[in-house]
Amino acid sequence: MNINTKVKLCCCQKMPIVALGVWQSGKDTKQAVLDALKAGYRHIDTAACYGNEEAVGMAIKESGIPREEIFITTKLWNDDIRKHRTKEALQESLRRLQVDYVDLYLIHWPVEGYIDAYLEMEKLKEAGLIKSIGVSNFRKSHLQNLLANVHKIPSVNQIEINPQMQDEETIEFCQENKIVLEAWSPLGSGACLHIPAIEMIAKKYHKSSAQIILRWLLQRHIVVLPKSIHKDRIEENIDLFDFELTDEEMSLMNALNQNKRTGPDPDDFDF
Ligand code: A2P
Repeated sequence: MNINTKVKLCCCQKMPIVALGVWQSGKDTKQAVLDALKAGYRHIDTAACYGNEEAVGMAIKESGIPREEIFITTKLWNDDIRKHRTKEALQESLRRLQVDYVDLYLIHWPVEGYIDAYLEMEKLKEAGLIKSIGVSNFRKSHLQNLLANVHKIPSVNQIEINPQMQDEETIEFCQENKIVLEAWSPLGSGACLHIPAIEMIAKKYHKSSAQIILRWLLQRHIVVLPKSIHKDRIEENIDLFDFELTDEEMSLMNALNQNKRTGPDPDDFDF
């Protein structure tokens, strides 16, 4: 495993295992993406509802890195799913990102209409506007319903995973079905950085708690999307490849689960 390692998706596309997440990066988005690309990131995770696709697109253009070397994920917002606006919403995202395809397009939340939206996304993939289709915030029950009604399994499920929030039922279901897992809020929005057991492991490897958490996820074959707007942290969050956690340390991290979410519950949300 190194900075260039990619995971193969079910549609044969390859995805870098560390991405810069840009939720709540606001006015700092463009600089954060530029810093990330300079640090070696080649995977950026945004969404229509983050309101910063334009800034992501500008940074990618300005970086001078060829489009095909960067993996771009964006997401279809709930209102667009409800209003059956999948094609229009994708076209708007493409325009804001200044690209003619996205590498990964995700259903952002399992709101009513997600099956129709997914079927529409399958057509848009055929048309070449999307390379891979995935979902986000789907629990096992949502995935079972989806699989029963669509043609191809999603490449990816992006959910909240961090030491205090490990939805083992969903994680297991995805891994059994070869759906690649991506962890949003891998650091628990910062809340997991001061857990004594993690600080202890960090001390041993001369790494930060953030690096221990991200490495733990990678060793569980989970793609990570840490968000930061600070250059030093952006660099730190991809500097994960010169140490390896032992089986014992992995078990210790796994045992920190409290099913404690920092974000909304996919079975009970109102937006
Ligand atoms: P900031 O953007 O100010 O650097 P998550 O990805 O779990 O949602 O966590 C994001 C939060 O953790 C943000 O508040 C971010 O702040 C902070 N953060 C990101 N990387 C690090 C790091 N390496 N060390 C400490 N805090 C970090």
